[in-house]
Amino acid sequence: YHVDWDASAAEKGGYDYFMLKEIAEQPRAVADTLLGRVAVDGTLTLDEMRLAPEELRDINKIVIIACGTSYHAGLIAKYAIEHWCRIPCEVEVASEFRYRDPILDRQTMVIAISQSGESMDTLMAVRYAREQRARVLAICNVNGSTIPRESDGVLYTHAGPEVGVAATKTFLTQLIACYLVGLYLAQVRNLKFGDEVNAVIEQLSGMPEQVERVLSMMEPMRDLARSLSGANTVLFLGRHVGYPVAMEGALKLKELAYMHAEAFAAGELKHGSIALIEEGVPVVVVVPSREGRSVLHDKIVSNIQEIRARGARTIVIAEEGDEKVRPYADTLIEIPAVPTLLQPIVATVPMQVFASELALAKGNDVDQPRNLAKSVTVE
Ligand code: G6P
Repeated sequence: YHVDWDASAAEKGGYDYFMLKEIAEQPRAVADTLLGRVAVDGTLTLDEMRLAPEELRDINKIVIIACGTSYHAGLIAKYAIEHWCRIPCEVEVASEFRYRDPILDRQTMVIAISQSGESMDTLMAVRYAREQRARVLAICNVNGSTIPRESDGVLYTHAGPEVGVAATKTFLTQLIACYLVGLYLAQVRNLKFGDEVNAVIEQLSGMPEQVERVLSMMEPMRDLARSLSGANTVLFLGRHVGYPVAMEGALKLKELAYMHAEAFAAGELKHGSIALIEEGVPVVVVVPSREGRSVLHDKIVSNIQEIRARGARTIVIAEEGDEKVRPYADTLIEIPAVPTLLQPIVATVPMQVFASELALAKGNDVDQPRNLAKSVTVE
């Protein structure tokens, strides 16, 4: 008598692919990354950063370096850090960084974001930054990996192991880590934004629940993805923090569904990319939250009208209850309303679901996409 025991099916927790399990695990991953770092009174404890408050007060420039999905986390971090800390912040793909003679000194903080902690491009950039005497903080998921070992300090994301080559839960937790760094810097530098910073710290604690909610709202996204497996290209539009979210959506689609996909800043549409719009082209639009940025919201609504008038099939990701966009959305994908800077945490989830569902519809292996590696240890 023989009992079939598929060990890997058990590891996948009932899902066909690790990636699908990892998408579902995101509320937990986000909660674990926040755990122990936010006190009840809103004070942040990030001792593991091993950078003294005096050193942090001394910083006058931040440079974020990363590759792939981690780079997108960095792009989002820039909006948050500059807004909360008023420190100029640059973001660059690690492979470009050290070849352009970047300006770094003792007062520069370099943040290296890497899930694996082993990406060679990022590691080389870290070494270069340290030679230039910059202070280097790593944001990594794999404990004891090379990048944190070679950095001055580290803030670990606690996403747990990620098997799927395309990053999902590690991206959301990188965002959390970036927000924590930004808020912590604002706290130690005693900025006048005290109230706002405290409010955001509180809202961060609610994020696991919001991610849970958005996951429960993804059925329309799955249906839509299945209907688009014959498309040749998908365009993504966003602005403000929604722009890097659009970039991440396009990257996920390339990685998993092997489709041409490109992201544009919605405001750039009129400067060229609108020429790509023709009958039936699917365009995914990330609509900014209505809180505090209503100007941007109105502008994107007119972008949606413009592309729709030219035949685009509009797939609109917008806050629940956003009645202004509804008339122009061929498909409306609702996400919970959260503060503007935190929106990427919920807005990325539909992107992951969209790409993975399309890949499945095409029969692709979503855990091991062709030609890709989880961690790229060559330059
Ligand atoms: C590879 C992976 C990507 C990842 C990138 C950066 O290209 O396929 O999913 O985003 O490396 O990896 P890291 O471990 O440095 O975050």
